[in-house]
Amino acid sequence: MKKLITTVASLGLLVGVASADVASDQKDFINHYKSILPNVEFADYTNGVYAVDQGSRDQFEEILDGIPPYEGAVEKGAKEYLKFGLNKCTSLKDPAEARVKHPYFDEATQQVVTLESAIKKCYQQQTGKKLGYKKGRIARISAWISDQAAGQKINVKVESAGAKAAYEKGKTFFYAKRGQLNMSCADCHVYNAGKKVRADILSPALGHTTHVPMYRAKWASIGTLHRRYGGCMKNMRSKPLKAQTEALRNLEFFHQAMSNGLEITADRYRK
Ligand code: HEC
Repeated sequence: MKKLITTVASLGLLVGVASADVASDQKDFINHYKSILPNVEFADYTNGVYAVDQGSRDQFEEILDGIPPYEGAVEKGAKEYLKFGLNKCTSLKDPAEARVKHPYFDEATQQVVTLESAIKKCYQQQTGKKLGYKKGRIARISAWISDQAAGQKINVKVESAGAKAAYEKGKTFFYAKRGQLNMSCADCHVYNAGKKVRADILSPALGHTTHVPMYRAKWASIGTLHRRYGGCMKNMRSKPLKAQTEALRNLEFFHQAMSNGLEITADRYRK
């Protein structure tokens, strides 16, 4: 009897953990945007705020028609990838595959591995040197790697119990209120997507991770997704967590999974 109860209890636990259902979460996510932004096609969510605002879309297209301001940096990233031997690491030797494969849940360490964490690790192995996580070299290399996967679709897999737990933590982070403004990521990028705050129109979180690392006119450079996370945590008057801490890797795992099926794009310009 005792054995039966333990078996049932452990089954119950498994069912509990298995409740992280990415497909159904994403369906709810997409349906929400369909209801508030009925004119935006699914594929267009890769364009962030430009999918919802025609005025800024025109400017965006003009920039893409010319020589986008990040082009030189991405070319430099290509050279750096080879110069520092990043093609010698198994994780990065096929750059297009590397972009599609990350973020993933590593069973050995029970941690989410992001593309930038893989780049940093490989760089350190090859050169013995450290690399920052937010801008400069890592962002250029990551942008070039991502360019190689342009046109392929985001396909984050959340399968094991450990992966589901990490995904759930990321999801909780995304919906949790924080900071002096007591706001969540979802307050701006889900419930108020398409609306204006001060001079900005809020982009939908759907598609947020398709053009990362992004170039921002405000930065006048390319920055990683976690750099942007830091900026938004400041917007929320919340102390920004360090790039690539476990909480932000889990957030990225959830955030990227919500964009499953959207194309990775090399059009990485944002205001
Ligand atoms: C007070 C509103 C607000 C909150 C809360 C907020 N952001 Fe933002 N976020 C913005 C604004 C404004 C921008 C710039 C315009 C845009 O793209 O939405 C932005 C941009 C972004 C971008 C870049 C979008 C792109 O297309 O390049 C990402 C990614 C992002 N936010 C993620 C987050 C995450 C994750 C959180 C929670 C930790 C968060 N934001 C919380 C206002 C907010």
